[in-house]
Amino acid sequence: MPCQSNDELFELVKEAKKYTNDGRVADYIPALGRANPHDLSIAIQYPDGQCLSAGDIERKISLQSISKVISLALVLMDRGPDYVFERVGMEPTGDPFNSIAKLETLTPAKPLNPMINAGALVVTSMIKGSSMEERLGRLLLLIREMTNNSALQYCEEVAKSEFDTAFLNRALCYFLKQHQMIQEDVDVLMDLYTKQCAIEMNCLELARIGMIFAMDGVDPDSRKQIIPTDIARICKTFMVTCGMYNASGEFAIKIGIPAKSGVSGGIMGAVPGKFGIGIFGPALDEKGNSIAGIKLLELLSKQYELSMF
Ligand code: DON
Repeated sequence: MPCQSNDELFELVKEAKKYTNDGRVADYIPALGRANPHDLSIAIQYPDGQCLSAGDIERKISLQSISKVISLALVLMDRGPDYVFERVGMEPTGDPFNSIAKLETLTPAKPLNPMINAGALVVTSMIKGSSMEERLGRLLLLIREMTNNSALQYCEEVAKSEFDTAFLNRALCYFLKQHQMIQEDVDVLMDLYTKQCAIEMNCLELARIGMIFAMDGVDPDSRKQIIPTDIARICKTFMVTCGMYNASGEFAIKIGIPAKSGVSGGIMGAVPGKFGIGIFGPALDEKGNSIAGIKLLELLSKQYELSMF
């Protein structure tokens, strides 16, 4: 077991916390703008049930883009890789998460990967169900199973705050609809997408999700295969190539752990075969990733030689 005690983790958090001064909390979703930029917490969940943590790990955060990995897993289970990858690509973009630029240069206008907003919107539109409520319910069910928390919900305030201000995402949807990449009503899709992004949990639950991916989709407690191995592998690969957007290359070199960030300041990490990581640090760098969260992962990866490469 690489990291042995909460004290060891606490020292790393103390060191990484200095970097919160260099970041800014996301405020383009107004409800996120109220977070304390100096917060930093981490939980590590091992498959044998042991859990290490430091900081305020009970605080709830919305998943934001971290949800994109789980919606991808769900649609891959719903429809299979061939159907899904006809509609969304597998390549990193080198562009920011909300960029519209590349879509216009592609024929067909197929988003390059499921982690950027354009790709995630196409993925969410593929979630099966006869109503928005049923589709959201199916996603929640999967996330509840992964976190082992049957009460997990989305935060209405965060969802509404994004729904009311998501002009760029709406623009992406209309562009995609014009090019037949999505068929449904844009406001229904935005309703589902903003609620998906607003699903909230604490760092312990985030670390448990990371652990399920690390263990190839198996819940070590129930021994149930929650996500098929091949789909968990696809998700982890996207976390490596696109999980930190246009910082993914540097992240792979310096840290080498499959990870996914969100603008709320969350990072979910999956150290293959070993453990899951949940981090919350709302001060972001200019690419929209938790600035101190990345530093913390870098310290952790160096100290315990966690790079998979
Ligand atoms: O669609 C958005 O802009 C947000 N709901 C999620 C973006 C996000 O988390 C990007 N991550 N770093």
